[in-house]
Amino acid sequence: MAIQRTFSIIKPDATKRNLTGKVNAKIEEVGLRIIAQKRIQLSEDQAKGFYAVHAERPFYNDLVAFMISGPVVVQVLEGEDAILAYRTVMGATNPAEADAGTIRAEFAESIDANTVHGSDATDTAAEEIKFFFTDAEIVG
Ligand code: CMP
Repeated sequence: MAIQRTFSIIKPDATKRNLTGKVNAKIEEVGLRIIAQKRIQLSEDQAKGFYAVHAERPFYNDLVAFMISGPVVVQVLEGEDAILAYRTVMGATNPAEADAGTIRAEFAESIDANTVHGSDATDTAAEEIKFFFTDAEIVG
């Protein structure tokens, strides 16, 4: 067990439905601290760059279009085993498969409009945090 940082996005389906606070409550309830946060409108280039790892997947174009369809809230979360802790409270990517009580089970509308993104490993967490935040913007 170790203190880690992970990267989170509250996606446009959630910001449109005024769910930022409810998602943040779930994050804080599991002991994660929101140590950086900003609400932004992603450009197409940013969304394509952020999800470049999925560029060859059939859902890539729809994913990029969805992620620029409204504001997002990008965040850095810190806590004990933060990457796994956040993935656990997010629930499965497909909300139909998400465990009861998770963010996606409670709020997500579909596999695209699935309310949140969270990093899947330490190296991607570091890269994703750097993509959106300078060190000065992160106050742990
Ligand atoms: P996210 O964690 O943001 O990473 C990539 C996103 O692609 C994922 O959440 C889903 O919202 C979206 N997506 C759409 N279809 C699929 C799929 N078949 N498998 C994985 N992710 C998908």
